[in-house]
Amino acid sequence: MEQFKFLWKYIKRHGVQYILGIAVLFGVDYLNLFIPQLTGMVTDGLTSRTMDMAGIMDCVWKILGIGALLALGRFGWRFFLFGAARHIQYEIRNDMFKRLEDMSVEYFNENKTGDLMSRFLNDLNSVRMAIGPAVISAFDASVMAVLVIGQMMIYVDVKLTLLAIIPLSVILVGTFFYDKAMRKRYRESQEALSDLTEKVQESISGVRVIKAFVRERAEMKSFAKSSANAMDKNLSVVKLQAVVMPLLEVIIGASSLLTLLYGGYLALTGEITLGRFVAFNQYIGMLVWPMIAAGDAANMISQGMASAKRVQEVIEAKKDIFDREDVQDVDKVNGEIEFKNLTFTHKGQSEPTLRDINLNVPAGTTLALIGRTGNGKSTLANLLLHLYNTEDGMIFVDGKDINSIPLKTLRENIAYVPQDNFLFSDSLKNNISFGVVDGTMEEVVEATKAACIHDNIMEFPEEYETVVGERGVTLSGGQKQRSSIARALMKDAPILILDDSLSAVDTDTEEQILRNLKENRKGKTTIIIAHRISTIQGADIIMVLEDGEAAEIGNHQSLMELDGIYKSMYDKQQLEAQQSGKEERD
Ligand SMILES: Nc1ncnc2c1ncn2[C@@H]1O[C@H](COP(=O)(O)OP(=O)(O)O)[C@@H](O)[C@H]1O
Ligand SMILES: [Mg+2]
Repeated sequence: MEQFKFLWKYIKRHGVQYILGIAVLFGVDYLNLFIPQLTGMVTDGLTSRTMDMAGIMDCVWKILGIGALLALGRFGWRFFLFGAARHIQYEIRNDMFKRLEDMSVEYFNENKTGDLMSRFLNDLNSVRMAIGPAVISAFDASVMAVLVIGQMMIYVDVKLTLLAIIPLSVILVGTFFYDKAMRKRYRESQEALSDLTEKVQESISGVRVIKAFVRERAEMKSFAKSSANAMDKNLSVVKLQAVVMPLLEVIIGASSLLTLLYGGYLALTGEITLGRFVAFNQYIGMLVWPMIAAGDAANMISQGMASAKRVQEVIEAKKDIFDREDVQDVDKVNGEIEFKNLTFTHKGQSEPTLRDINLNVPAGTTLALIGRTGNGKSTLANLLLHLYNTEDGMIFVDGKDINSIPLKTLRENIAYVPQDNFLFSDSLKNNISFGVVDGTMEEVVEATKAACIHDNIMEFPEEYETVVGERGVTLSGGQKQRSSIARALMKDAPILILDDSLSAVDTDTEEQILRNLKENRKGKTTIIIAHRISTIQGADIIMVLEDGEAAEIGNHQSLMELDGIYKSMYDKQQLEAQQSGKEERD
């Protein structure tokens, strides 16, 4: 049991809590036994007329005392054992998240978000059930069963006890299978429900497309189908419950009838006293719950172990991008970049995405990457950020192989505007100062002014405190891009990468941003990835990527003279611009 070893590490840390909890549980079970004995004593005292009112009161006080201790004890074990399980869940959850933060982007390509989420929610919950409630049930059930059965045999009668146990063991086995079936149905109903949730969510976020294509009826039909499915799955849970619950009562009834018959006979023949007969019936009642709990616990534990494995897979996932032992920290990065025979193939791809790229970018210059979609521009940016592994000797920053630079140092020195310019569901201020600890408002405004988004932000109702994304206002594509640029500019790193970050910005604003960049980035290295020649024609070095190869390298003038891909792109874009006039997309 690999998972058990894994869980044991966490359980060990809460050993004291577990020991205390189980000890209290044991005490409670033991104390429990005295109540039937006391009621039995009263019955016997009354029938033989040897007990007076004082004797009854004595027993009542004892029962009350035991009751109070039981209440205290039950609080105690809940406190210790549920507390420990919740703490362990919290610790495992944090460890899971920590490992996820350390994993490379490749890991997230391979592992679906939904699956990871379900490991965080469902599996972690199953684990908690197995190390909390199931432990309690298992201990409680076995201790209770052993004690109660022992007491029944010693205090009452062995044969009567054996007779009573037979129907109860049916409950034990029955519960195990019932629970299994129930969990399966329950899981299916949960899945149906999450399906339904997803459907509603998609219909809401896709409402524009649905309306534009007049698909409301079809959506309604497909929703009704999902909804009916969820109802069926829920009903199947209820149906099973409806069949089994009365059945359980039949078994319990049969069992008490049997003991009534034989026990009555024993009492009549005087083999047992009436008091013991009464106590016996109470003991039977006390055995029903442990039988159910034992079957329950067995299932919870088996499910918990399966879930623990899935949790363990996340926590023990092998890191594929990490600092090698020979990394050497760098004091200051100047920003010179060099690619030497850089060839790179994405995982799962048969052909290299980038082929034999050779280029030197002196510190303080601007490099432009241009080329059709899918030619490896974003990949090149990601490689520089060491988001994927490359062989030694292919990428250098300030003459040092990036594999020998600590990841933290490398990435701290690169400001990056990703192509999908993701913003968090947070205020604009927090989004823009994301990469800078203790950034001041002046710095934020300086960055937003350079990215030409300041005026827009001031028009929002709450200005810089406006929350964007899912929980707030929706920004236009261009506003998002400019906010992401501001976030990167605020970092003020020696190297800046803009991955297709001006595509949704109108040409006038683009020109303004480019002018600001020229001012802002003086003496620092900037990499601009773009489709439009207008965006990059001022760059010191322009590299045209074609099928993953550096097809043309030069500056605007030399590439125009070359009369190759660059020139034909230029001509085409000139023509388009003339035809459509100035594009105003923002
Ligand atoms: N994580 C990935 N795994 C596999 N293939 C990828 C991955 N990312 C990009 N690619 C592939 O690599 C090629 C280059 O993609 P990309 O660098 O995004 O191009 P560009 O930015 O020039 O549009 C494409 O064919 C794309 O499908
Ligand atoms: Mg790209």
